[in-house]
Amino acid sequence: MRIEHVIDGKHVGSAETFPTVDPWTREPWAEVALGGRAEADAAIAAARRAFDEGPWPQMGYAERGALLHRLADLVEEHAEELALLDTRDMGKPITAMLTKDVPRTALNFRFFADHARLSAAEAFPMDSGHHAYTRYEPAGVVVAIAPWNFPLMLESWKIAPALAWGNTVVLKPAEQSPASATRLAELALEAGFPPGVLNVVHGFGPDAVGEFLTTSPDVDRITFTGESNTGRAISAAAARNLTPVSLELGGKGANLVFADADLDRAVEWSIKAIYTNAGQVCLAGSRLYVERPIYDEFLARFVAAAEAMVVGDPQDPATQIGPLASEEHYEKVTGYLDRLPQDGGKILTGGRGEGWTVRPTVIVDAPLDARVCREEIFGPVVVVHPFEGEDEGIALANDTPYGLNAMLFTENLRRAHRVAAALRAGTVWVNCFFVRDLRAPFGGVGDSGVGREGGDYSKEFFTEPKAVVMEI
Ligand code: NAI
Ligand code: MG
Repeated sequence: MRIEHVIDGKHVGSAETFPTVDPWTREPWAEVALGGRAEADAAIAAARRAFDEGPWPQMGYAERGALLHRLADLVEEHAEELALLDTRDMGKPITAMLTKDVPRTALNFRFFADHARLSAAEAFPMDSGHHAYTRYEPAGVVVAIAPWNFPLMLESWKIAPALAWGNTVVLKPAEQSPASATRLAELALEAGFPPGVLNVVHGFGPDAVGEFLTTSPDVDRITFTGESNTGRAISAAAARNLTPVSLELGGKGANLVFADADLDRAVEWSIKAIYTNAGQVCLAGSRLYVERPIYDEFLARFVAAAEAMVVGDPQDPATQIGPLASEEHYEKVTGYLDRLPQDGGKILTGGRGEGWTVRPTVIVDAPLDARVCREEIFGPVVVVHPFEGEDEGIALANDTPYGLNAMLFTENLRRAHRVAAALRAGTVWVNCFFVRDLRAPFGGVGDSGVGREGGDYSKEFFTEPKAVVMEI
């Protein structure tokens, strides 16, 4: 299979290609056009023309929304095909694709289509006899740079609000997971999107097509999800042109299980929090703190549940954990395990599996300053520690440069609100994990990001709000 760019409504190849590898077979399964400066410039120019010449920004919300709903319909009609593309590219279990990522992709388009149409603009009647009111005008050309952990789903999370508010888009998927983005752009054309509204270019990041997209003065917004250090590089590149950036970066999510928790539910959610998508989740609950009185019992149940998970071929519908997304990433994750004898800490269960899989891994007795406790491993690896009382639990949870999210499990209502308020994080889940209302803010504090997306937060980022003041 060949995967090409989609620029100005047409497939575009490049002189050079690079392979995308199926991490389960560990063989290349498709050849991808390798974009560079020329492709970045062409895609930005196409998006610029589609924005400046219209009709996309001038369309009513209902008309654009209908096209976004049509795209959502096509995503649903092609669910199996799209699911398989991400599964082959990065090893995500097909069942997770079909039950979570693809439905959420369709929902992202539907939600933002409706949100934009129903969204309010403020009016301010002034004492002086004037009225001030707000117009939310599209920002222009949006560059979306995506990671490989939820390819289709995270790409739609960025481009759906951008498009719904009337912007045009250049999407660069991660080099490890290019296939679904090209297919999505084809479906957008089939749905009736004008050429140039959604462009896709493929290739690498530093000193390559990704960086060229972030340094262009013709770009009005950059939205990025990925590693914190990449976020720093993109932020610096964008600063030269004063281009606003939205950055969703890494995490080292704390999960506090109090002695008064419902243990069955706490175990079930804590397992999901770390092992979903083989732990390749910025929101992963990778630091698990359990209150001393229940520590032994909780840990025994947690280990049993971890060992019961099905690891293997991602195309097998029974598989819960597939391979890690790439060889490079497999080496990174297992490197943390290999260094445990020097760094401190012991593996209770897990470790290397078949091929590039890592079995659900539980580490105990690691010093709190060990790398496994501080750094984002981005694999199915949890570090577990006991804690004594609420204050120590909160202090442990907040002792991280990251602040994307945290979880807590308790049946005590007052404690739930008290601890949720004390945790330094963009999202706190109480007695659950990963549940999202798309109207709510999503983003992180500290090294976890800059800005928020979701509902009105996406509106603020992807528009230029204009104040109009009129004498009445
Ligand atoms: P990365 O941040 O380097 O790559 C993400 C995207 O950014 C890709 O599309 C890449 O091509 C692009 N990119 C990289 N450097 C760029 C630059 N200078 N300018 C413009 N675009 C650039 O992440 P990578 O290397 O794939 O993964 C490394 C680690 O990052 C992972 O092990 C994990 O810890 C973390 N990560 C976190 C994610 C999250 O959801 N917060 C997602 C992916 C990775
Ligand atoms: Mg990188």
